[in-house]
Amino acid sequence: MALQRTFSIIKPDATRRNLTGAVIKKLEDGGLRIIASKRIQLTREKAEGFYAVHSERPFFGELVDFMISEPVVVQVLEGENAVARNREIMGATNPEEADAGTIRKEFAIDIGENSVHGSDSLENAKIEIEYFFNDAEVVG
Ligand code: CMP
Repeated sequence: MALQRTFSIIKPDATRRNLTGAVIKKLEDGGLRIIASKRIQLTREKAEGFYAVHSERPFFGELVDFMISEPVVVQVLEGENAVARNREIMGATNPEEADAGTIRKEFAIDIGENSVHGSDSLENAKIEIEYFFNDAEVVG
């Protein structure tokens, strides 16, 4: 087992419906510690940069429009195997395929408005954490 850090976003569909605390409770109950957190309004430029890997996908415009539609909460999560653990707690990208008890099964609206983002690898977690947080903001 390895202590890891991963990056999380509570997306606009969740902040809009006042589900920030409910999502955080799932993460903490799942064994992850929140060691950095801030509520921010993404700019179009910042959202496009974050999702640049998806820029050729047909849903890219819709994804960016959604991510800037309301505030988001960006977080750093720490715990044993945090990258995989967070993905288990979130459930599948498409809520129709997510397991019972996961964040996306309980809260997501559809594959686009799916309540949370989580890093898909340790390498991307580091990149994504550094995209939003400086060292002084991460207090493990
Ligand atoms: P996320 O983990 O934030 O990474 C990319 C996002 O693109 C993904 O979650 C989904 O919310 C979104 N996405 C993936 N596939 C589709 C799709 N077919 N239509 C709309 N959005 C999608």
